[in-house]
Amino acid sequence: MLQEIPVIAIDGPTASGKGTVAGLVAGKLAWHYLDSGAIYRVLALSALRRGVDLAEEASLAAMANTLDVSFSADRIWLAGEDVSLDARREETGNAASKIAALPQVRAALLARQRAFCTPPGLVSDGRDMGSVVFPQAFLKIFLTASAESRAERRYKQLIAKDLPANIADLLRDLQERDARDSSRAVAPLKPCEDAVVLDTTALSIDAAVQCVLSLVAQRGVGRIA
Ligand code: C5P
Repeated sequence: MLQEIPVIAIDGPTASGKGTVAGLVAGKLAWHYLDSGAIYRVLALSALRRGVDLAEEASLAAMANTLDVSFSADRIWLAGEDVSLDARREETGNAASKIAALPQVRAALLARQRAFCTPPGLVSDGRDMGSVVFPQAFLKIFLTASAESRAERRYKQLIAKDLPANIADLLRDLQERDARDSSRAVAPLKPCEDAVVLDTTALSIDAAVQCVLSLVAQRGVGRIA
């Protein structure tokens, strides 16, 4: 049954625009959207708040099993509290990248992510959507952009939300995060063999969305709303 529900997997490094593109594509198709990074972020936030060491694999996996996370529109909830702002902070993203390297944590979050795959279809974004979580996806995209342009985009996003930001620190953190996400033993960040690589350094969000939608149309799946 799971095999029959169409899935688009959009993977890529931090601030590549994959969340925005995935959300817009999901809206156009009137499909569900999974921001898998938000789940890792909420788990990291919960660990930071409870003072749990970010290397405590067994404790973090146990927390992952009972994590009370939910999404509505563009809000992220942890045990009924709107944690959208805290979840989006750079320090939360960096902590998420640390706990995401732990195999037991990834295993504990697998079923939770797969539960988003419901009719009429799903657009998911993350690091291992095409390789591990939804290997059956009919379309796999690896969305990327230069580190400098990603740092600049992240800077603008944070400033727009009145969150603290410094472009040099952002670039350094982003390169460290890329290195950690790419070199980890489980589900490292890299394009799947069957992924279409889309470099958005010189591409607007709209152009990237159109590109994904035309790949969907070429495969004869989904109807644009
Ligand atoms: O995508 P986002 O920046 O919100 O993800 C935060 C961190 O969560 C990433 O740096 C990555 O380490 C981790 N992550 C992951 N696998 C996913 C989604 C996110 O390892 N599918």
